[in-house]
Amino acid sequence: MDIKRIGVLTGGGDAPGLNAVIRAVVKCAIRRYNLSVVGFLNGFGGLIKNQAQELTEKDVAGILPRGGTILGTTNRDNPFHFPVIRGSEVVYTDVSDRIFENISIHEVDALIVIGGDGSLSIARELHERGLKVVGVPKTIDNDLSATDQTFGYDTALNTAMEALDRLHSTAESHHRVMVLEVMGRYAGWIALAAGIAGGADVILIPEIPYQLPAIVRKINERTGQRKSFSIIVVAEGAKTTEGELVVNQKVEGSFDPIRLGGIGNVIARQIEQATGKESRVTVLGHLQRGGSPTAYDRILASRYGVAAVEAVMAGQFGQMVCLRGTEISTVPLAEAVGEMRRVPVNSQLVTTARQLGICLGDE
Ligand code: F6P
Repeated sequence: MDIKRIGVLTGGGDAPGLNAVIRAVVKCAIRRYNLSVVGFLNGFGGLIKNQAQELTEKDVAGILPRGGTILGTTNRDNPFHFPVIRGSEVVYTDVSDRIFENISIHEVDALIVIGGDGSLSIARELHERGLKVVGVPKTIDNDLSATDQTFGYDTALNTAMEALDRLHSTAESHHRVMVLEVMGRYAGWIALAAGIAGGADVILIPEIPYQLPAIVRKINERTGQRKSFSIIVVAEGAKTTEGELVVNQKVEGSFDPIRLGGIGNVIARQIEQATGKESRVTVLGHLQRGGSPTAYDRILASRYGVAAVEAVMAGQFGQMVCLRGTEISTVPLAEAVGEMRRVPVNSQLVTTARQLGICLGDE
């Protein structure tokens, strides 16, 4: 089939580099393949509710360094489980036929979905129902399987590293324990890499259950070496072997309703009690998702955007563009979703942290 017009949308939580992908898609589609491009607004919501915007080169001018997404996004609006009001009741309904209608109204031949696990699972299902889809892997959590790296992660990691650099001065001056809680959901990529890059003394990740005595030992050992402060990075999904995840809130209607958060506080209070050292907590939160993408993320996002258009032109539907080593490639969406990519506990990165003397909470 001849491709003349493509659609693009951004779904799930925002991540630095979304605009860089949109820009690359539009530039490559128009310049290289003479296509036209329409953007659907606010994730799958725009496709369901027919909210769209034509995208020309002018629309994407100047957006490369900008965080967020010019198309808007949401982690709700699942077309297979969409809240429809019937009388006084909200009934969750499959409204995916609206998507096919709107795709046809806008004469879209293929759709590029930029998203994480939730959005790409929907993309996969739509492809199985006949839509021509190509996926682009986004998330600061870096937890998508089938790609070595998602865009957005490098920027989040650098933000966390910078926070650690800044926390060092207060820790040192006040002789305190400073705890930094970072995002990442059920994966510890941000915590581990930022902890190594930012010189943390303790790094706690979901993949390695921690024990309080191990952390206390590390802090006391440092005190014994006349190091009066300690820096701890904790991933929001970290927990003890017997412990529960610390949940901040539940967001009904979201792809994954659980919002983690609060473990930093729990640990700081326990450390204060056990060591007598004054402890403070910083929850980095959405600062990790904001701001201008790093050079690495701008380049990765641009490569993904171009590769997604090329995949469309090559008829590689139902695929996701991915990074394999240093090369961009494609994998079936089916392989990319469903299974989370977590930090392998025996990976070189984990070993490096241990060899540097960083405590990972387990010994
Ligand atoms: O998946 C990205 C992410 O930022 C996670 O790291 C975090 O747990 C979650 O999204 C926060 O979601 P929300 O923006 O809905 O609070």
